[in-house]
Amino acid sequence: MSTREKALELLGNGETVSGAEMARELGVSRNAVWKVMNSLRQNGYEIEAVTNRGYRLVSVPEQLSGTEIRRRLTAKDFGRELEIHAQLDSTNNRAKMLAAQGAVHGTTVIADSQTGGRGRMGRSFFSPEHSGVYMTVILRPEWAPEKAGMLTSMAAVAAARAVEKVSGADVKIKWVNDLYMGGRKICGILSEAGLGMEAGRLDWAVVGIGINTARMDFPEELKEIASSVGNETGTAPDRNRLIAEILNELEALYGSMETGAFLEESRRRSNVIGREVTVIENGKQYPARVLDIDEEGRLVIETGEGITRLHYGEVSLKLTGGRT
Ligand code: BTN
Repeated sequence: MSTREKALELLGNGETVSGAEMARELGVSRNAVWKVMNSLRQNGYEIEAVTNRGYRLVSVPEQLSGTEIRRRLTAKDFGRELEIHAQLDSTNNRAKMLAAQGAVHGTTVIADSQTGGRGRMGRSFFSPEHSGVYMTVILRPEWAPEKAGMLTSMAAVAAARAVEKVSGADVKIKWVNDLYMGGRKICGILSEAGLGMEAGRLDWAVVGIGINTARMDFPEELKEIASSVGNETGTAPDRNRLIAEILNELEALYGSMETGAFLEESRRRSNVIGREVTVIENGKQYPARVLDIDEEGRLVIETGEGITRLHYGEVSLKLTGGRT
């Protein structure tokens, strides 16, 4: 941990800390403490110097910051290797390249904006600067390739928990990869995987998460279907805190990839179970009623022809009958 990071940890709970105590804890002179405070101020940290009492952290900058993310991480692997970019074509593309070059499990790529943000089924993901969280985590799976379909369900539960924690608002999951708030989509997830040379093993998997956070106007074509946490709650969440919470929740749930213990929460958060939907599959569209999510994360639906199970990646759903 750098001296700056240690100083921020000391100031982290908002209490005033004396210059002498800071100097002692950091193992530097009081003059050096003063310099650290000034350099933090230059990076947007508001630090109050109270005469004869010490320093107090008033506010932190709303910029993507490795320091701000790391100081909130409880995860051991996820996010320990972190890349932050002002702009990328797609964090998933960058992560796949790093995975091919041997990046370690948990390496995370974040961008402030994406010029070619990708969604499922060849769609694009609107990713303007300062307005959202666009991140991808690289995984070195130990689970069987057949379990890969569960990755998106697991990530959806982790992201839902994190968004709920930082916003205080209810988050629903529209199987399999969208999060909804107030009836509109606020987040999409795109998982991809690469098979290893050794049969029956995944060499890598990446899970890309895009969340609209800022209060903003969406392009005409997205207005009716998309929203942001800021638009729905009136306050944009701190992106660094949100990223750290996502990484913490992802790591906590990652261990249950094999057992699917998170599927119960997936069902509880579902905004499609019990509803009429339109299934879009290979260019065909048909109405169905959603019955359940099964133990393998598949959607159980009933159509005129009986009951079937939909695999991740094969279909897209249109909610029918208004906002939820
Ligand atoms: C979807 O809505 O179908 C999924 C959208 C996934 C978007 C995220 S943003 C971070 C990562 N990088 C990408 O290019 N896509 C994912």
